[in-house]
Amino acid sequence: MGRKPIIALDGPAGSGKSTQARALAERLGYRYLDTGAMYRSVALAARRAGVGPEDGAALGALLERISIVLEASPEGPRVLLDGADVSAEIRTPEISRVVSGYASRPEVRMAMVRLQREQGRDGGLVAEGRDIGSVVFPDAEVKFYVEASLEERARRRLRDFGADESDTERLEEVLADIANRDSVDTGREHSPLLVAEDAVRIDTTGLTVDEVLEIMLARVAEVTGCSTES
Ligand code: DC
Repeated sequence: MGRKPIIALDGPAGSGKSTQARALAERLGYRYLDTGAMYRSVALAARRAGVGPEDGAALGALLERISIVLEASPEGPRVLLDGADVSAEIRTPEISRVVSGYASRPEVRMAMVRLQREQGRDGGLVAEGRDIGSVVFPDAEVKFYVEASLEERARRRLRDFGADESDTERLEEVLADIANRDSVDTGREHSPLLVAEDAVRIDTTGLTVDEVLEIMLARVAEVTGCSTES
């Protein structure tokens, strides 16, 4: 058999794409690439260095000197920034709030896309993000666009934080944050979030992880001509 396929998974914050991408990669025995974690690592490095998203020259210099490595570990995927594990630090509310500003910068996108393409050289990859099917791997064999209602996405985020879903004040806060990120990610000039022409759209509202996984596996089997039964 030739090179294994690349599977692109795009969608907005909280759509469930990370969970699905990880489950799909595990089931297929492919590597998993969380490109959002890479943008988050840049945001963390920039905050630490006191570099704002508007300072293109300083951002360019920062990108030259930092190293971002994503690796698999028994506890799940880990993100190393200059060799140190920052998997927890890149998920703080502060980084979530500022990351889209950095992710909208062309110098940041160019550097990250280059790293992402290196990861896809040998195929056998499930990559998730916002521009995977449209920009990073336009020739990916399988593309999914995963979405869910804004309310459902906010509830999932609260659950991720271990917060009470009936806390309406908190829910409103998370909802506003997600809506704001959607609008920055969709409205930006460089590589905005969009549905690739040949992507299969899946609305995950009200579906379980397994149900979505079955839809994805069926599509992978259809495209590759191989059974994905375990
Ligand atoms: O998926 P996430 O919430 O971890 O993504 C973090 C931020 O990075 C989010 O604002 C969108 C941005 N992002 C992007 O612009 N392009 C990608 N391929 C992945 C994420």
